[in-house]
Amino acid sequence: MSSLAVHPNETCGAFVHGVDLANLTLAEFDQIKAAFAEHGVLFFRAQHLTTRQHIEFAERWGEINVNRFFTAHMDHPEIAIVAKEPDDETNIGGYWHSDHSYDVEPALGSILIARELPTSGGDTQFASMRRAYEQLDTRTKHRIERLRAVHSVHHVFGAGAYASADRGDFTDRLGNSDGADEMVDVAHPMVIRHPLSGKNVLYVNPTFTIAIEGMDHGEAMTLLHGLYDHATSDDFTFDFAWEPGSVAMWDNRAVWHSARNDYPGQRRVMHRITIEGCALEAPPELQRADPTLAQRAGATIAGGVVAATMDGIGMVIEPERTKRPDIEIVGEAPEDEPKDNPAEPGVSFGDLPEI
Ligand code: OGA
Ligand code: MN
Repeated sequence: MSSLAVHPNETCGAFVHGVDLANLTLAEFDQIKAAFAEHGVLFFRAQHLTTRQHIEFAERWGEINVNRFFTAHMDHPEIAIVAKEPDDETNIGGYWHSDHSYDVEPALGSILIARELPTSGGDTQFASMRRAYEQLDTRTKHRIERLRAVHSVHHVFGAGAYASADRGDFTDRLGNSDGADEMVDVAHPMVIRHPLSGKNVLYVNPTFTIAIEGMDHGEAMTLLHGLYDHATSDDFTFDFAWEPGSVAMWDNRAVWHSARNDYPGQRRVMHRITIEGCALEAPPELQRADPTLAQRAGATIAGGVVAATMDGIGMVIEPERTKRPDIEIVGEAPEDEPKDNPAEPGVSFGDLPEI
């Protein structure tokens, strides 16, 4: 009999006890998969996995994504090193985000192992985007449920980001800025049907989301920042304190994460393996034929300049840099945009108040 037990947090994620990730039975793995779909992030204590065992556990979930921007483990390129040295000031992942949202098929998630920890501090915070969506007021749900947001990697891993003084001392730990600059921005529905849980989830994040298709820049930023304030409420966030042997596995489509940078002068080294994901779909009931959607899919980003939403860095992106061939920058949004959807009387998009 397995002693595996799942203990959900009230706010986000669950602890899994009574299990050895290096020696899992099929039944235990099935229980872990079910808990992962339900809770979005799982925490394990006292695991002591070797690098080989880390890779083997990851391979049970799917194909491994070899990271394009982080330093790789010397012997195992599947493992990305997430490190902060004693004299580094900046940390990787130090602002709320969901990894790889800038990809057409964003990564499913990552398995992160603590290899070297500061004596205190260095927690990772997680926020449940399923709870955040569920707790939105109905009007805001309606307002966002047919919208698509644009996600970009340029201002975070591109050459321009390195040129910025605010970029600090990342240069030794991140690379391939040319590869980042080549990448085309992508759009995903702002509300997705989660591929594992089947639940609706809020899918935007403060680091990589730069715009909302068809929406004036200022209006989009007001809407997004309202969502970010809501989603980082104490009701949906959990602070995970790492111990030697701790493992966290998160689903990028279900949670955000953010690493605390509160251990100056100390080293923190984490090993991360990322699993490939899939294209993300809006909930099927929101995919009905809709002429206003067709207009929005014509995607113009109005307003001239797209400002990155990564507050800590405060980068501004020129419109030419949103390298999407289907996006035309048209300046100000037209005043007389049609507001009503003739196919669905009563549903309108333009006249809802700001949240
Ligand atoms: C990551 C990340 C957070 C941390 O590995 O994607 O954001 O706490 N890490 O190291
Ligand atoms: Mn991250």
